[in-house]
Amino acid sequence: MSILSGKRILLVVGGGIAAYKSLDLVRRLRERGATVTPVMTAAAAHFVTPLSVGALSASKVFTDLFDREDEHDVGHIRLARGADAILVAPATADFMARAAAGRADDLATAILLATRAPVLMAPAMNPAMWAHPATRRNLARLEADGVRFVGPNAGEMAEAGEAGAGRMAEPLEIVAAAEVLFDAGHKPLAGRRAVVTSGPTHEPIDPVRYIANRSSGRQGHALAEALAALGAEVTLVSGPVAIADPPGVTVHHVETAREMLAAVEKAMPADIAVFVAAVADWRVTSESGAKIKKDAGGPPTLSLAENPDILSTIGHAPDRPKLVVGFAAETDALLDNARVKLDRKGADAIVANDVSPTAGVMGGTENTVHIVTREGVEDWPKLGKTDVARRLGDWIAARLAQLEAQ
Ligand code: C5P
Repeated sequence: MSILSGKRILLVVGGGIAAYKSLDLVRRLRERGATVTPVMTAAAAHFVTPLSVGALSASKVFTDLFDREDEHDVGHIRLARGADAILVAPATADFMARAAAGRADDLATAILLATRAPVLMAPAMNPAMWAHPATRRNLARLEADGVRFVGPNAGEMAEAGEAGAGRMAEPLEIVAAAEVLFDAGHKPLAGRRAVVTSGPTHEPIDPVRYIANRSSGRQGHALAEALAALGAEVTLVSGPVAIADPPGVTVHHVETAREMLAAVEKAMPADIAVFVAAVADWRVTSESGAKIKKDAGGPPTLSLAENPDILSTIGHAPDRPKLVVGFAAETDALLDNARVKLDRKGADAIVANDVSPTAGVMGGTENTVHIVTREGVEDWPKLGKTDVARRLGDWIAARLAQLEAQ
């Protein structure tokens, strides 16, 4: 039985071409035993008729804040209180802007302000509108207000010849995201094993010196904690970091890439593996057992050898976890590089991590990421690392459920 069974879903249909997919969404939600109360914005009625939405949902369709019949008992408050969750599909750029500003100038936005139920939005718009800084701002603000998002996906747009991120998520993806919404208290990852790598590695040159990088471990540690909060049994393999072990997680501390690989292999099998660590690409083969002296005949020459690629090793292993996720910190050609890594490393998703100086400096507290899969790219706004972790945890839970439903 679906977790949506018996749930009262209030579905806001916004005014975009993707509204036709909302008709299928209504059907999918009802198949799972949810009741659907539709609210249409004025613009939505240009794309689908209240008659079809009403027929598919077997419910009255609400459209007007000032409806004489419904508002005698302050209908927008009643609708807001009577919902277990609110879905907005499609969420247009204008709808997101009004919701982010806290406006209540129509029935749908008034309900959003009055509700205490979780809200899930499925944005759909032209790729240029999705990429616009104003929409990015609105997205970040709504995220901070606790609104959850699914999609948009990349692909062909209704406008001839246009492609990019902006297509509304498919109805079944929205259903999966809605299930995660209700599953929060139910621990959707209960009984699952997850392995997460985090932090840098240190590759010794001699007993006092090493090669390292700027990774703080904040993102990987936050993700380990988020997966544990969703019920997973988490093993965190951490390089040397200056932050505390996250609660509720088994932590193995390692120093070098080779130690990290050994610890990860020991933690297998797992259902989920997420490789957040910034592993050093090379180790020093000429490691000295004693401190190299400054006056020992000029600067030493370091000879380097390539480290094992932990993600690639696990991604290509015969008993690989069902879901393997990598990270890719890039300063340029972010998405192209991430797509190449997806195949080369045998990952199911790459979290492309913009470390260019304008996006968020490596080692900082914020992160701008894009989720790259074989189906397309999801752009997330600049978020705190804890928020990225929470959202990624939800994404992983939904993705695992989706993979297993196939
Ligand atoms: O190739 P690049 O280092 O950019 O790939 C980054 C991804 O691969 C990250 O998920 C990182 O944790 C993983 N990786 C790894 N072992 C390496 C190098 C990278 O697991 N030796």
